[in-house]
Amino acid sequence: MYTTELQKTKAVDAIEDPEKLAAFEARVAADDFIEPKDWMPEAYRRTLTRQISQHAHSEIVGMLPEGNWIGRAPSLRRKAILLAKVQDEAGHGLYLYSAAETLGTSRGQMIEALHSGKAKYSTIFNYPTVTWADIGAIGWLVDGAAIMNQVPLQRTSYGPYARAMVRVCKEESFHQRQGYEIMMHLCQGTSEQKRMAQDALNRWWWPSLMMFGPPDENSPNTAQSLRWRIKRETNDELRQKFVDITVPQAEAIGLSVPDPALHWNESKGGYDFGEIDWEEFYAVVRGEGPVAKERMKARRDAWEKNAWVREAADAYAAKKAQKKQAA
Ligand SMILES: [Fe+2]
Ligand SMILES: [Fe+2]
Repeated sequence: MYTTELQKTKAVDAIEDPEKLAAFEARVAADDFIEPKDWMPEAYRRTLTRQISQHAHSEIVGMLPEGNWIGRAPSLRRKAILLAKVQDEAGHGLYLYSAAETLGTSRGQMIEALHSGKAKYSTIFNYPTVTWADIGAIGWLVDGAAIMNQVPLQRTSYGPYARAMVRVCKEESFHQRQGYEIMMHLCQGTSEQKRMAQDALNRWWWPSLMMFGPPDENSPNTAQSLRWRIKRETNDELRQKFVDITVPQAEAIGLSVPDPALHWNESKGGYDFGEIDWEEFYAVVRGEGPVAKERMKARRDAWEKNAWVREAADAYAAKKAQKKQAA
């Protein structure tokens, strides 16, 4: 998949107007934002459309594992917080679909690509949320990893994407803290609660590290994306930062990270950590995640059941347009 995309990128590069391409690359190198009406290479447009729409799908599909616990939150306070958090994710999806639409693909086409299985979303959401502690682990680790990915995207070269990230990052930071706070409380609770927190960390740790994508040597898109400043840091750099920040957080609440190879490396000023199971990652990418089918079924059912909302909105818009014309 990655090689094909890279080959396509090179082929398109070859047919672009070299003067326009040089001017575009000079703007990007000067840290100028590229805006929707500006000229851009087709490969840039295609890579961004893919990346932003995948990001939007991840926000929307990401509502499902947590939505699963809104009706079972252990207190009114926890329920209100979780409800607000899940609503934020819906908002993130909407900003991102809007940003992707400025590149010329409609929201309907993007949703269709998601529902038909053509478009991808973050593999992390194909794991089940089996206990309340999973809600803590998701906020702490999954939203924590999302921040790590998204903070550099505030300086990505495409203006609408960069601007959407500013607000998204502020909200993600609240999400991360609410998750960590759930874990902290569980760790201060009964031994059963602490066991639940440790079990959730054990199950979510490795999938969280996978969220940064394949290792740099197997990510040939990275070079082109860095050149065009779509990406500002590599997968492995971001993964290392995440590990370095998160391990002390686990220790502070008395949890242990499920990696026997993990240890502090004084000379590099960061942690060394064990090998990620990339077989598992690629299996989940192929749609073999534990609850992948359930997630897509929930999405498609929601789309079909709520068709009346779209129809009503269209009818209202048509009526308004008619009135405006008559006036
Ligand atoms: Fe989000
Ligand atoms: Fe979030």
